[in-house]
Amino acid sequence: MARLLLGVSGGIAAYKSLEFARLATLAGHGVRVLMTENAGRFVGAASFEGIVGAPVLVSEFERDPLRGAFPGEVGEIGHDPIGHLELAANCDAFLVAPASANTIAKLAGGFADSMLTTSFLACTAPRLLAPAMNDRMYGDAATQANLAALHDRGVEVIEPDEGPLASRGERGRGRLPDPERLLAAVEAAASWEGARPWDGLSVLVTAGGTREPIDPVRFIGNRSSGRMGIALAGAAARRGASVTLLAANVALPAPAGVRRIDVETTADLQRAAAAEFPGSQILLMAAAPADFRPAAASAAKLTREGALDLHLTPTDDILAGLVAGRTPGQTIVGFAAEHGGDAVARARAKLARKGADLIVLNDVSDPRIGFESAENEVTLVAAEDEIEVPRADKDTVAEAILERVDRLRAASPTAK
Ligand SMILES: Cc1cc2nc3c(=O)[nH]c(=O)nc-3n(C[C@H](O)[C@H](O)[C@H](O)COP(=O)(O)O)c2cc1C
Repeated sequence: MARLLLGVSGGIAAYKSLEFARLATLAGHGVRVLMTENAGRFVGAASFEGIVGAPVLVSEFERDPLRGAFPGEVGEIGHDPIGHLELAANCDAFLVAPASANTIAKLAGGFADSMLTTSFLACTAPRLLAPAMNDRMYGDAATQANLAALHDRGVEVIEPDEGPLASRGERGRGRLPDPERLLAAVEAAASWEGARPWDGLSVLVTAGGTREPIDPVRFIGNRSSGRMGIALAGAAARRGASVTLLAANVALPAPAGVRRIDVETTADLQRAAAAEFPGSQILLMAAAPADFRPAAASAAKLTREGALDLHLTPTDDILAGLVAGRTPGQTIVGFAAEHGGDAVARARAKLARKGADLIVLNDVSDPRIGFESAENEVTLVAAEDEIEVPRADKDTVAEAILERVDRLRAASPTAK
């Protein structure tokens, strides 16, 4: 665990810092949040407190109820009876995101008029700034001179991204980078060694639902949104793996740093998986391939005349094919969407039949979880045990799945 201080100042992008706090907490870090008073006009302290599990501090005159401790630490640290500098003294890295033009100017001027600015001035750990603002504010000579001065004093400035800005219709450089990129920068600055336990591993993830054409405009498909696979790809990338995502009709963007290959049909997915699997150590088959396809797709759009009989033929079993060609040291995780009944027994049978190392079972009869929803609740079925992962957002469920994969690989004599 790294101890991270997150400074939040008043800008539209403050909502993205909530996601940063969530990702950093999910990755196992202890995060404390210092907000400017104006940041509170954009996002509420209660949201940060709920995410990181510790009070947010605003004023330098406030006493920290945790006396400088970070979430996950036992007991109180409490070196300094005055207390306002303890978090700065105890952190491994300090990120200000978003850094408003106003807060950047204050930091460049050495102001100490809030908990954020006071702590920044007193912090000897690596300090990072992620400016986010309108591109004209960013490009102004004053902002640029302030950033240059901070950079010269050893502060790492994370350049904003270019793209659509909050002001309607405007584009330019000023967007806060993705929370994943911010976290990677902070972890690198904090020299957090445990940050990339999957460094050197290649992970192949499949996501979404395949489509089997009936004619050029119609298809047989399913309701898989690809969210679970995207969450897994993001979690593997955060562990430092090199991740390839085979995305079957996924409308959502891939996580930062993930290589994406789009596919449409089960046959496309099978071809891409066969090409990518030999170079991967871990396969996470979260996609829902169609089990049947029309025996013959019409080359021309079918017209609405009379009844239409579709003859369906089974598609190839992708997972079984990959398992048959596996080499020692590869870990294979299959997914089973079951509809009620004795789902665990059926998942266990699938584990044995397919020869996978783990089956992630979800019950698609519950509309609150699984397909198209943001949450999931799964049972992890392995040869030696079954673990129930309670209902949670898909990122949290993805972390639980990868932790189980870690344990499977630790117990495997061939996994490296
Ligand atoms: C709707 C709205 C959006 C704003 N967005 C930004 C922004 O993205 N970046 C920025 O530097 N300032 C932005 N500002 C201006 C800052 O909120 C303002 O300069 C404030 O004094 C910053 O206070 P702080 O740096 O103490 O948090 C915005 C103001 C408003 C009213």
